[in-house]
Amino acid sequence: MTDAEGGSCGAKARSDYLGVHEPRYARIAASQEAGWSSDEEVEGMLSQLDWALGQAGELASEGGQECTPHSPRRPPAYAVLELGCGDGCLTAQLAARQGWRISGVDIVPLAIELSRKRLAAAGLTANLACANVTSIPWPDAVFDLVVDGHCLHCIVGGDRGACLREVRRVLRPGGLFVVITMCGEPADRQGGVFDPVSRNLVRAGIAGRHFGTVDGILGELSAAGFSTARHRIWPARHARENDDLVVAAKPLPGLDAELP
Ligand SMILES: C[S@@+](CC[C@H](N)C(=O)[O-])C[C@H]1O[C@@H](n2cnc3c(N)ncnc32)[C@H](O)[C@@H]1O
Repeated sequence: MTDAEGGSCGAKARSDYLGVHEPRYARIAASQEAGWSSDEEVEGMLSQLDWALGQAGELASEGGQECTPHSPRRPPAYAVLELGCGDGCLTAQLAARQGWRISGVDIVPLAIELSRKRLAAAGLTANLACANVTSIPWPDAVFDLVVDGHCLHCIVGGDRGACLREVRRVLRPGGLFVVITMCGEPADRQGGVFDPVSRNLVRAGIAGRHFGTVDGILGELSAAGFSTARHRIWPARHARENDDLVVAAKPLPGLDAELP
């Protein structure tokens, strides 16, 4: 658990990533729920991802780079990491894309186990690791694309900067980080107490979700060494859900010495 800055909520709130997420996977394992994300939610994330890939492709052609990982002439093996891959609802769709070599990281061991089962049942493969996204267990510069599969809004306090710097470290120069993250004020169904200072949603002293402003999230990305030339607010499909901020973020070259 790390301090997540309680702000105006009074007592300091803490993170507990395993404690917040594991119970839901226990329900999924007990067949009380089908999976973390519904088919409609997965379809939404794939549309958001494809929008961001299109933006990155446009940026590359404007910059005169004809053959980038995001252009039609991209390399045949496209190395992709999903942050917070969970029980593999999105991972399986990514792994089914031709030429995509998928890796995933999640902090809940049971989620990784469920994801392995889902992929095996579909005849798909991915390289999965159980770890905190503040310490991504891959070497430097190995991924063409990192997809935030609704994980960044689970990360609070100083862990957010640590996670973003890790994403930048594992991305290849010229790679792409696609952020898909809830933003704005939390919808009613989220429950808990929203602290407008830290912008965390707090339940029983645990900060479980971060609802950043658009400027705040773009600022965090810039501070971690990303350029964020293209972003879009993706309206929620249902009133009880939150809007997503979708960002096509590119690692800026030559900033390593300046980053904390
Ligand atoms: C909203 S769920 C999304 C799951 C999956 N990407 C999907 O779309 O179905 C967020 C996931 O992030 C994981 N997660 C939360 N905090 C994490 C952390 N610090 N490190 C790694 N994974 C984390 C959770 O266990 C959960 O599986």
